[in-house]
Amino acid sequence: MIYENILVDVKSHVGIITFNRPQALNALNNQLVDEMNLALQQFETDDAIHVIMLTGSEKAFAAGADIREMKDKTSAQAQAESFLSNWDYINSITKPLVAAVSGFALGGGCEFALACDVIIAGENAKFALPETGLGIIPGGGGTQRLARAVGKVRAMDMILTGRMIDAAEALSLGLVSRVAPTATLMQEALAVANKIAALSLPVARAAKRAVKATQEMPLSEGLKLERELIYTCFDLEDQKEGMNAFLEKRKPVFKGR
Ligand code: HXC
Repeated sequence: MIYENILVDVKSHVGIITFNRPQALNALNNQLVDEMNLALQQFETDDAIHVIMLTGSEKAFAAGADIREMKDKTSAQAQAESFLSNWDYINSITKPLVAAVSGFALGGGCEFALACDVIIAGENAKFALPETGLGIIPGGGGTQRLARAVGKVRAMDMILTGRMIDAAEALSLGLVSRVAPTATLMQEALAVANKIAALSLPVARAAKRAVKATQEMPLSEGLKLERELIYTCFDLEDQKEGMNAFLEKRKPVFKGR
């Protein structure tokens, strides 16, 4: 498959999707999102890939959904064509998703970062949900995921004022998990991705599923799911390997089963 708006690469067990529309600061047009979904699907179904990374350029992770593409849309058209339905696919990915964010992550760019499991920002990263200033609201999951990530009043502040926050503030709010120097962002993000990729994949998937459930379920249901998932781990060869390796004072070698 030849992609026009993304680059795809594999480093060891990490599949990397790089937004690549430099002329528009990686503005997310429909074709880009479709291409990303295809690449996501290929990585999701490729047993050699354990972790998927989303990234952009140094200047922009992505400056939002493509404003040119949506400016003339009517509400009826948006409904008829199920506008944005292709933005939901990322939520079905069961492998860990790591976002490495440099530069602008605005609107839909910020929303795709928020759809990832781990977000690592370069020191130059800038986050905002400025959609209200354009006469719309965040529609790529931002109202829900930002509020869950940073709390209601901080999400309201960002969404109603559209203000841009830097990496340090994003870290203090809990919007990102780590900040790295801009020059070494990819190196550090890859180190994190490789660490996750070295886990037993079914274990990483179970952990992701359990933590994601906190966003969707009441505590009692989430606790039940967690219990079911830890039980499944005890049937894995990798659980035996992990615990034996600890007791034998060696590194575990996981087989993904
Ligand atoms: C289309 C965009 C774009 C966008 C930038 N460009 N963002 N095109 N959609 N979201 C284009 C510009 O038009 C310009 O093209 C080129 O990229 C470079 O941008 P400049 O503005 O010249 O660069 P700069 O002065 O460095 O400013 C960078 C910026 C600014 C601060 C990031 O571009 C900006 O504010 N962009 C829009 C951010 C935004 O509002 N995002 C939310 C979008 S709505 P030309 O051809 O003029 O050189 C959204 C909805 C999500 O995301 C919910 C539904 C999915």
